[in-house]
Amino acid sequence: MDEFDKWAREMEQKIMEEVEKTYSPIVIKEWLNPSNIGKIEFNAHAIITGTCGDTMEMYLNIEDGIIKDASFLTDGCGATIACGSMLTKLIKGSSVEEAKNLDSDFLIKKLGGLPEENIHCATLATLTLKKAIENFEENER
Ligand code: FES
Repeated sequence: MDEFDKWAREMEQKIMEEVEKTYSPIVIKEWLNPSNIGKIEFNAHAIITGTCGDTMEMYLNIEDGIIKDASFLTDGCGATIACGSMLTKLIKGSSVEEAKNLDSDFLIKKLGGLPEENIHCATLATLTLKKAIENFEENER
């Protein structure tokens, strides 16, 4: 291993140590290995830009009041990726009514907590979900 590789490895290790101090193991897992990322066939969609300037996009496939499939895209931070991943996993197979009532506190609990500066990332994810459902219901009318 040359000097540069050694330095790069040490840096990587230091960064990971910082990340582990800041985020729960669940957040790190969902962030580094997210589920349901990308576009799917959908009949409900929303895109919202949060207070931080990052964007979350959500795609839902709703059939007979049940969320059959869900996915997301984001240009946001690692915590937002974790939120999108966990949120889409939670709502897949649930009723639209259940999904509507899912708030950011519940999502944060499922993620094993989030640092104060990332609370808005969970809010962005749940707001995008609610907006996608709203858009779906408006189209149904
Ligand atoms: Fe912008 Fe997390 S969504 S910092």
